[in-house]
Parts: sequence; structure tokens; C-alpha cells
Amino acid sequence: MKTLLLGSTGATGSLVVRQLLVRGEPVKAVVRSPDRVSQELRDQPGLEIIQSDLSTATESDWNSWVSDCDAAISCLGHNMSFKGIWGKPRRLVTDAVIQLSQAVERIQNVSPFKLILMNTVGNRNRDLDEKVSLAEKCVVGLIRTLVPPHADNEDAADFLRVKVGQSHSSIQWVAVRPDSLTTAEDVSEYTLHPSPTRSAIFNSGKTSRINVAHFMVELITDEDLWNQWVGKMPVIYNKQ
Ligand SMILES: NC(=O)c1ccc[n+]([C@@H]2O[C@H](COP(=O)([O-])OP(=O)(O)OC[C@H]3O[C@@H](n4cnc5c(N)ncnc54)[C@H](OP(=O)(O)O)[C@@H]3O)[C@@H](O)[C@H]2O)c1
Repeated sequence: MKTLLLGSTGATGSLVVRQLLVRGEPVKAVVRSPDRVSQELRDQPGLEIIQSDLSTATESDWNSWVSDCDAAISCLGHNMSFKGIWGKPRRLVTDAVIQLSQAVERIQNVSPFKLILMNTVGNRNRDLDEKVSLAEKCVVGLIRTLVPPHADNEDAADFLRVKVGQSHSSIQWVAVRPDSLTTAEDVSEYTLHPSPTRSAIFNSGKTSRINVAHFMVELITDEDLWNQWVGKMPVIYNKQ
């Protein structure tokens, strides 16, 4: 199964690339700066690197990217700089998910096409009755207004949840929701939940990026796990 990877130069995306390649799963990585892919990864025969700017990619670019892939993972995220947070593109993740989905609809070479979105536990799954305190609602509302990347993450997941939905003819999706991301060398035990089990604002948990990468790669390679979480927004925490 070949996976199209967006955000593969990022802290989590690079771990996803590595874990897919270790399992012998080919990867097509669309990056804006190939020199940000480590030499070790660039030397791997299973990795195809395409240099492109997502904001100027055409329909035909997207068609060719998805044409020989069975799955896609987005680990895109706004860079944590003033320009990354408040500059353009403000809808980096949402626009990429929409363009990707539309290309899959146009191409329709494999069904179902698996789409995994790296999202955030700060986003609620409105398909479920996720209880959030009034105080948390207020804080998240403020973040949504003041920090565009949060709204982008919410909109990207909403596109999958509402527009692609649960019975799309060619796309199945999972939106993975980590809590505060940490860096660790090795995969450790983690727990998965349909909804948050703690407050993302007032009692946040930790999720190491390597565990997020591991779960995403498991979703791609383990059909039973995929069937367990398809159309859902699993929350992932490191096991305490
Ligand atoms: N921080 C947290 O605690 C936390 C918690 C939960 C969820 N999340 C979410 O997790 C996701 C990924 O996190 P991360 O730490 O792995 O991200 P990261 O290291 O910042 O990686 C972001 C990736 O997006 C790419 N990117 C950024 N702006 C781009 C643009 N304009 N065009 C094309 N590509 C662009 C980056 O490419 P370049 O290498 O070229 O810049 C990089 O590959 C984010 O959506 C974030 O919101 C974060």
C-alpha cells in the first residue's frame, strides 16, 4: 500500500515516514523543501519525494499525487512562528484535506482510499456528545478566534466528518487527536479513546509524537484497527 504523506518534514511526519518505510510500506512525500528530509530517509528506496508548494498546487498535481496511492496521511501543521500562526495560508490543513479528497473523487482508482488526519484533542467530535465545561468552551472559543491554526484544525476535521461523512463512495477517514505533543526516542504504551478523558485546557495529558506516528502506521497496516476507528476521531494519550 503506497501512502501519500503531507507534512513529512515535520516533527511527527518524519517519524511516520520512517515507521512506514521500516515496515516496507512505500511513501510518496510532498514537501516544500526536500533538504528538510534527512539524508537517512532520502537514501531509502521506498521513499519518493515530490517538491511542491501546496498553496499553488493544481488539480492535475493532486491527481498525479493520489493516482498510485491507496492512503494519505496529513501531519501538516502551521509553523510556530508569527508568520506561521497569523500569516497565510490560514487554511493550510483544511485546504489540503479538501484538495486531496477531491482528487481521490476524481481519480477513484482505489476504494476505499484511507485518509488519516493529524488533528488535536482541543477539537471536539460533534458527532458525539462530548461534554466540555463552560470555562473550557470559553477558552477554546477565544483560541479559535485568536489563533487561526486552531480553527484550521477544527475545519479540516469538520470537512471529513460532515462533507465526506460516514458512507462516502471512495473515501474512509480517521482524525487522530493527540494531547500535548512530546518528543520521545521510542514507542511506548499508549491508550486510545473515542473522546477525551481529561480536559485539554485545564488538565492536559501528554502524547509523544512517536506514539502518534505508530498509531497512524498501525491504522494503515492493520485492517481490524482501521475498521475499529474508521469515521471516528480517536484520542491518543501516553499510558501513565
Ligand atoms: N503542539 C501540540 O502540542 C499539538 C497537540 C495536538 C495536535 N497538534 C497538531 O499536530 C500537527 C502536527 O504537529 P507537529 O509538531 O508534528 O508539526 P510540525 O513539526 O510543525 O510540522 C508541520 C509540517 O507542516 C508543514 N507545513 C507548515 N506550513 C506549511 C505550508 N505553508 N505549506 C506546506 N507545508 C507546510 C511543515 O513543513 P516545513 O518543514 O517545510 O515547514 C511540516 O512538514 C499540527 O496540526 C498541530 O496543530 C499539536
